[in-house]
Amino acid sequence: MAEPSEARIQIERGLQELGEAFRESFSTASDEQTLRGAKAEFLGKKGRLTALLKLMGKVAGDERRAIGEQVNQVKRDVEAAFDARLDELVAQERRADLAAPPFDLTMPARLPVARGHRHPLSLVKDEILDIFNSLGFEIAWGPEIELEDNNFTKLAFPPDHPATDMQDTFWVRVDGAPDDARVLLRTHTSNVQVREMSKHHPPMAIVSGGAVYRRDDDITHSPMFHQVEGFLVAEDVSFAHLKGVLSEFAKRLYGPDTEVRFRPSYFPFVEPGAELDATCAFCKPDDGSRDTCRVCKGTGWLELLGCGMVHPRVLEFCGIDPERYTGFAFGLGVERVAMLRYGVNDIRVLFENDPRFLAQF
Ligand code: FA5
Repeated sequence: MAEPSEARIQIERGLQELGEAFRESFSTASDEQTLRGAKAEFLGKKGRLTALLKLMGKVAGDERRAIGEQVNQVKRDVEAAFDARLDELVAQERRADLAAPPFDLTMPARLPVARGHRHPLSLVKDEILDIFNSLGFEIAWGPEIELEDNNFTKLAFPPDHPATDMQDTFWVRVDGAPDDARVLLRTHTSNVQVREMSKHHPPMAIVSGGAVYRRDDDITHSPMFHQVEGFLVAEDVSFAHLKGVLSEFAKRLYGPDTEVRFRPSYFPFVEPGAELDATCAFCKPDDGSRDTCRVCKGTGWLELLGCGMVHPRVLEFCGIDPERYTGFAFGLGVERVAMLRYGVNDIRVLFENDPRFLAQF
């Protein structure tokens, strides 16, 4: 009979030394982490049994089967002993949990927990949307990343209008888009007019609000700001309807005594177009506070929004017959209303998220 190889002798000696040491080591482990550590001493990368398994490669072919069987048996024993001890520890822990005083997840926290609240711009935007909603306007949404078509072209902006300049608009490059699909960050919420008028048939009364973007940055202008847009299209809609709706809006926003006035103005997508001013709610002519009012600068009027009758070309671009239908539209800046409401004189504090400012609402 051939002499046993050196590797086989080493393995057999190793197995003998190992003996039942793992049983002792597992049974003294009192938690899962220690138990896993103990297992690694035998079966980890540098474990004692792993070292013997590595020697198997050096054992001569005719001896490999017998000695391999021995080593694998020990490996199975180690694993079985580990599993059994783990089950015991888990059961022990569960028993301890059940025996411990119950933990009431629903108990209120002992320390006062600071509660968050809505941002002042969200409060004002929703207040404005709610007013129009209560006047019968449905709420709709439009995307902030928009096609040039919906932001400018179908609103009858001529192609060389200054608003479309690099100065004013953030253009977006969309890889793989066709050359004629020019994309931008919407510069106003009037894109919702185009989208809704192209989708639905009159009559419709819709209001929408959200973020818009322009290349603007000073104490009253921000590159990202919010607008609310509204429009109504039906048969026989006149400027008188616009006046009625917006006068009521101004009263609900600034108080029942609020009056409005219209000043002619120009927007390519309305004809005629106007700016609407509301009487200043911060001063009164009769108590003398008007002359020194810093909000309206003594004029008695606050600029509130842009508005007008929807241009027949816009209706046509959106597939609505301008001979049959007319409509009005308006748009306003939410930051401006919020700044007046809360006496904020620098638009940037609305976006800095300083808790000392936000906690005041
Ligand atoms: C418009 O954006 C038109 N789409 C409004 C409109 C809609 C007119 C429907 C007619 C019919 P304008 O560019 O004036 O108009 O902007 C409206 C308001 O947004 C301004 O009165 C101002 O309050 C606010 N605004 C404009 N630029 C900024 C800015 N950079 N930061 C903060 N508010 C701004």
